[in-house]
Amino acid sequence: MKYILINFILAIGILGYFFVLPKSFIKDQPINTRQESTVVKTVAQNLNVPWEIAWGPDNKIWIAEQQGLISRIDPITGSKEILLKLTDVWQLRTSGLLGMALHSDMKKNPYVFLDYTIEKNNKKYSRLVRYTWQKDTLLSPMVLMEIPAALGHNGSRIVVNDGLVYWATGDAMSLVDSQDPKTPNGKILRMNIDGSVPADNPMKGNPVWAWGFRNIQGMAFSKSGQLYTSEHGDTNDDEVNLISKNRNYGWPTVQGIAESDAETSFKGLNSTVDPLKAWTPTIGPAGLDYYASDKIPGLKNSLLLVSLKGKSLRALKLDAQGKKILTEDIYFENKFGRIRDLCVSPAGDIYLATSNRDWNPVAGFPRPEDDRIIKISNLSKSDPQNSLSSMAAGSKAETLYLQYCASCHKENGLGVKGTFPSLQNSQTVVLNPKELIKKILIGSTGPATINGVIYDSVMPSFAFMKDEDLLDILTYIRSMGSSHAVPIKPELVKQVRASLNK
Ligand code: HEC
Repeated sequence: MKYILINFILAIGILGYFFVLPKSFIKDQPINTRQESTVVKTVAQNLNVPWEIAWGPDNKIWIAEQQGLISRIDPITGSKEILLKLTDVWQLRTSGLLGMALHSDMKKNPYVFLDYTIEKNNKKYSRLVRYTWQKDTLLSPMVLMEIPAALGHNGSRIVVNDGLVYWATGDAMSLVDSQDPKTPNGKILRMNIDGSVPADNPMKGNPVWAWGFRNIQGMAFSKSGQLYTSEHGDTNDDEVNLISKNRNYGWPTVQGIAESDAETSFKGLNSTVDPLKAWTPTIGPAGLDYYASDKIPGLKNSLLLVSLKGKSLRALKLDAQGKKILTEDIYFENKFGRIRDLCVSPAGDIYLATSNRDWNPVAGFPRPEDDRIIKISNLSKSDPQNSLSSMAAGSKAETLYLQYCASCHKENGLGVKGTFPSLQNSQTVVLNPKELIKKILIGSTGPATINGVIYDSVMPSFAFMKDEDLLDILTYIRSMGSSHAVPIKPELVKQVRASLNK
């Protein structure tokens, strides 16, 4: 009798296993069926720096790859179809095919807007061009604008909203254009879909909508029609801004929130607008999108920002009016490498595009499958990590080096040959303390030849750094290649600073 009872209980248990539990597996959820668990899937791979991705009216993901390829992938099967191959793209470092935007009403206006770098008579230009979508191809290019470009700081993002085109241009390395409303660089430009200037622009016949920008890398409208941007600062103060018509955002005088005497007095005279949020140390912000869906609990009414240096997805929760950032949550830090752009599907899934094959690779990347498009269909509340706490594990000197120098010279100091020199076997670092301090205080003064290789990319000035932090970094980089570096005397830093201020 005892055995029959046990068998009976076992039988019910087994039946229960087959008839009750499987129901929860049918819904295509991860093994851990807690509602808030993170769900991640690669939907496309072997891409080459997808600078912009957008959800199309055909329910495919449209992709602009930096070397000049426009394609679309089916997010379910991953199959890729090429729509257009541009043949006149000039591509080095952060130039090339950058922005892409689809018209918000492709049925009536089947237009795709692109911007890319070209070269004419030895000069570089950013070209904004409109193509017409027809079935499986893009036709009839119509150039809307061509403006000065450079090796870097070319922006740029394009967004179409309410039938108007917004184009965020870079300062193209000029320190005067951003503050000159008559030039197109360092601006947000607003135009009709044929490139003409709308009658309600702030200045008659001028596409300038807002100005005072350095290098915008993300731009998105919220559901209520407010425009937000993300922007690269110099050595400090990356920004997210809320854009108002006809306003000045301060670059190059005001960086981040106006604090110093020079910044507050410039702000007083020019009524510049402070960012909603600024990051120092910098995070290398890139693509920006507004999340309006109910699909992922907790993200509604957030700006989603991806980052290159920060290698993460960030959710910036907005207040009800969209005028303040209340919280910042960081997801997937260091997991996928550099992330350049994102898009959100109508169903509320988030798609990320990695940028691990670009000009500035990071340790551990690219992986063979890079670059990838990764689908996020849920995010766990327990996922966000705080980047500062994970960084604080190392010494103070290491933290400073990682924050200020590693984005170019890399974590191990070996740099990227031809772009950022190695600090490990550098004559300057080991043998020439005065030149070393000078380099860090001044930054680049023009192309440098180091061990027979020309470096014409730019190193910013770190003159803002406190002497004690500078000394920490000096000791840190001097001990990278050898274990017996002699610390540099504090007096020498003071002496070099004084000689530069003469
Ligand atoms: C935005 C990229 C960038 C960042 C950030 C950067 N550097 Fe550089 N650095 C360069 C480039 C490019 C060069 C080579 C061109 C030149 O010397 O002007 C260089 C050159 C140097 C050199 C000279 C090497 C030699 O052999 O002559 C030193 C030393 C150096 N950097 C130290 C630092 C330190 C220390 C930091 C952090 C406080 C830093 N750099 C941050 C880009 C950068």
